Amino acid sequence: MVIRKAVIPAAGLGTRMLPITKSMPKEMLPVLNKPVIHYVVEEAIKAGIDDVLIITGKGKRAIEDYFDRSFELEYYLKERGKLEELKEVEEIGEMVDIYYVRQKKPLGLGDAILHAEKHVNGEPFAVLLGDDIIISQRPAIKQLIDVAEKKGSPIIGVENVPREMVSRYGIINGDPIEDGLFKVTQLIEKPSPQEAPSNMAIVGRYVLIPEIFDVLRETPPGRGGEVQLTDALQILLQDHEIFAKQIEGERYDIGSKLGFIIANLKLALMREELKTEIRDYIKRTLEEVLNE
Ligand code: UTP
Repeated sequence: MVIRKAVIPAAGLGTRMLPITKSMPKEMLPVLNKPVIHYVVEEAIKAGIDDVLIITGKGKRAIEDYFDRSFELEYYLKERGKLEELKEVEEIGEMVDIYYVRQKKPLGLGDAILHAEKHVNGEPFAVLLGDDIIISQRPAIKQLIDVAEKKGSPIIGVENVPREMVSRYGIINGDPIEDGLFKVTQLIEKPSPQEAPSNMAIVGRYVLIPEIFDVLRETPPGRGGEVQLTDALQILLQDHEIFAKQIEGERYDIGSKLGFIIANLKLALMREELKTEIRDYIKRTLEEVLNE
């Protein structure tokens, strides 16, 4: 199995971040001076992907504009000798081959993935959710691709979450195979803490096989009336082995207010030109908070 293509679903409504997502795709929310989807595309490229399909929808034009060339802006920057900025802007327009397909109605992540069928054209493919950043040594999706290529099977990225949080995620159960790797035995979308078979939560990274499309077509709407990828994977499990790998890295869900704030702080601390001032600010704030 060789994985060359990535699919980035980015057609969700982003209701947790309303009202800003009323007129701005949540995938365009800034993490420092780049939109979250920029980091996601970068992760795919670092993992050796050379073909990216973004599933967009209504109100998502800003994503296409972002990855497009902007000749007017480039001309302006060149004229004014702003060469560093020019380089940065030009590079975005040349990152990788990006294709788009529209999901006409936000009927769920499963339905979004179904829109990738033509483009994927019978190949296994990586999926990276457009609102999740994972900071890691080895790109998170590469960690999955390496196992998928070895096993020839689909694989899901997971992380342990506190029991009281399981109802926010798809949860898997599995038999341990080796350190951090499991053979999946069950998947369940947003279970209650009592129902959850484990506290291993699906994070926004997968490697899937084209057989998933037939399954998705037959998957009835589940939680929230949406076609859930987790439900489709539970059906796929009847005929295919699926693996789960605990991702090494730190994940930030930018589609939630807390994830958005923390990711911005974390990345600022990693930037040479910002880290001292941010650290001082955190120190001062911590003292204030502790003295309250
Ligand atoms: P989320 O459940 O986080 O997205 O979907 P959402 O529905 O936009 O967010 P909230 O919960 O209302 O705040 C996970 C991923 O699946 C995509 C989203 O864009 C996100 O990347 N998605 C979701 C679609 O592409 N289409 C959909 O119909 C639903």
